[in-house]
Amino acid sequence: MHTMSPEDITRAALASVEATPDARLKEIMGSLVRHLHAFASEVKLTEAEWFQGIDFLTRCGHITDDKRQEFILLSDVLGLSMLTVALNNDKPAGCTEATVFGPFHVEGAPHYPLGADIANGAPGTPCAVHGSVRGLDGRPVPGAVLDVWQSDAEGLYDVQRPGLDHAQARGVLTADGDGRFHFRSILPVPYCIPHDGPVGRMLEATGRHPWRPAHLHFRVQAPGYETLITHVFAAGGEYLDSDVVFGVRRSLVCEWKPQADGSWRLDFDFVLNPVQAGAGGAGGGA
Ligand code: BEZ
Ligand code: FE
Repeated sequence: MHTMSPEDITRAALASVEATPDARLKEIMGSLVRHLHAFASEVKLTEAEWFQGIDFLTRCGHITDDKRQEFILLSDVLGLSMLTVALNNDKPAGCTEATVFGPFHVEGAPHYPLGADIANGAPGTPCAVHGSVRGLDGRPVPGAVLDVWQSDAEGLYDVQRPGLDHAQARGVLTADGDGRFHFRSILPVPYCIPHDGPVGRMLEATGRHPWRPAHLHFRVQAPGYETLITHVFAAGGEYLDSDVVFGVRRSLVCEWKPQADGSWRLDFDFVLNPVQAGAGGAGGGA
């Protein structure tokens, strides 16, 4: 066999996926091989560097379990999660924008009646959240289901507290017949994404901080509308301009207002995109 040039190797690797029966998989694999080879060629990747890369990915795998997802974090801090959200959520003007899902959503959170305190004992400054869910045509969406989750005053989600055996600062609420909802919770604060693993080391090595600005997470679902996965960010807070996962959208920044009794109040209205005939109900990011 004669010596292969770098270009020959790329050509051979591309040819190896040519027979992929699934057309979309063929497109993805071809593009992946092309871009990976272009990347390695552009930086003239050394063998030592490639082993370091493999070691990094191996460490991401080893630290990942059912509570810790290092690969989502990696995708988030590289901007890949937000890019995927942007590519797949090109909603008409007037709709609430989508942002990253993040790793702390829990399927099957407790259901609460409107007005309940979803903090459920989580430490924090009390606040009330009021709002409505409407369609793009302005009509209310009765019975819209809102899944809410947030960190506590110490910047931790309940799933990050090993001894805790019940949900805190998360819950599912159903909007009333006018699409309105309200609940009590606690003020969100800025927090660090988990940075005690390989992704944290990568942030350090590239001179980046691990902080996210204060926010509440929402997943809003209703039949006939695209599922919306988004946050509401606290206006005036730190890190709005340097969110480590690139999730901030200006339209999602809102003011929590101080109340006479020392608590706070947020008012926020969601506008959902109707599902186009024949389209699925896609929603938000990784
Ligand atoms: C979050 O907002 O919960 C989150 C998003 C991305 C990475 C880590 C946390
Ligand atoms: Fe969060």
